[in-house]
Amino acid sequence: MKMLVTGGAGFIGGNYAHMMVHQYPEDQIVVLDALTYAGNLETLEPIMNEPNFKFVKGNICDREFVYQLFEDEKFDVVINFAAESHVDRSIENPEIFLETNIMGVQVLMDACRKYGIRRYHQVSTDEVYGDLPLDRPDLLFREDTPIHTSSPYSASKASADLLVLAYHRTYGLPVTISRCSNNYGPYHFPEKLIPLIISRALNDEPLPVYGEGANVRDWLYVTDHCSAIDLIVRKGKPGEIYNIGGHNERSNLEVVKTILKELGKPESLIHFVKDRPGHDLRYAMDPTKIETELGWKPEYSFDTGIRRTIEWYLNNKEWWTHIINGEYQNYYAEMYKDRV
Ligand code: NAD
Ligand code: TYD
Repeated sequence: MKMLVTGGAGFIGGNYAHMMVHQYPEDQIVVLDALTYAGNLETLEPIMNEPNFKFVKGNICDREFVYQLFEDEKFDVVINFAAESHVDRSIENPEIFLETNIMGVQVLMDACRKYGIRRYHQVSTDEVYGDLPLDRPDLLFREDTPIHTSSPYSASKASADLLVLAYHRTYGLPVTISRCSNNYGPYHFPEKLIPLIISRALNDEPLPVYGEGANVRDWLYVTDHCSAIDLIVRKGKPGEIYNIGGHNERSNLEVVKTILKELGKPESLIHFVKDRPGHDLRYAMDPTKIETELGWKPEYSFDTGIRRTIEWYLNNKEWWTHIINGEYQNYYAEMYKDRV
């Protein structure tokens, strides 16, 4: 099988490419990535020379380029991770989110129609469902929960989901969609909460927590997300949506305190800052469908996953210090200047 993994130089796509290269030596894995600020070839370095792996630099919005790639490579399956993925950046500049997350998806699906594929898989997010109240722990997102987005990021992802389902209904394209909760683990870009807190705590820098830190996210270790996607691509039913989550709800403050405890750093580093506009209160997934229909089970609880993640950041300082010492310094200064 030949698979196209778009966005494979990013956090989740990178972990997915590592997993596929090792788990399926008989398959060919091609990563296509535009190498935006979030794409990092160092993430792919460990698999770059594997015989079943190839990296191609390019933009999913570039129709001519994408068509040529499909014509040359003749993919069997396409798994689309490529996206602008950071809510805070989408609030500052929505346009690029609409381009990549919606128009890019259209280009990929048009290529799938033109050249033929066995499966197009769209990697989506729990954020398309909006948020849940903090005082109703009984409520969870199900696949039939109405779409109700909050940020330009989630609106762009929800638009893509609708387009993907339309291509299935109208053109019979064999698509699947997965909607996953917040991921964490190795190769996570250090402007997202967990790697931001680990890297800053290690440098004894103040840790910015939005509002009162009461917002709740449902955390899943990244390789559990990857194994779920692999199962959906191989065994999922075309036209279906699958929720992915591991029942690991934590408030942001709990997450930050857990990391500080693991690192032996003081809670006095915590610094409450101005809240994110439109900040979703709580995400919580009901993964019953993928568990019962496809037999998926996550391997890591939050406690084991967070320890593994911290260990990875301690053992791979070079990977994240390269990012932090580069252009990211400007990002941090710009994004947090009005929050203090
Ligand atoms: P990321 O930002 O780390 O990686 C995105 C990758 O896509 C980068 O390598 C970037 O260079 C590439 N890219 C961006 N625009 C591109 C374009 N126009 N053409 C080609 N490549 C492009 O994101 P991530 O956290 O790995 O997320 C991957 C996918 O999973 C996204 O679709 C996101 O919506 C979804 N998702 C993420 C989470 C999470 O917690 N991170 C949870 C659920 C779903
Ligand atoms: P983030 O990693 O940006 O993911 P998402 O917004 O997609 O869930 O943020 C996770 C949570 O952490 C979210 O509630 C916002 C909060 N947060 C902070 O409190 N401080 C920060 O510096 C960042 C980046 C996020």
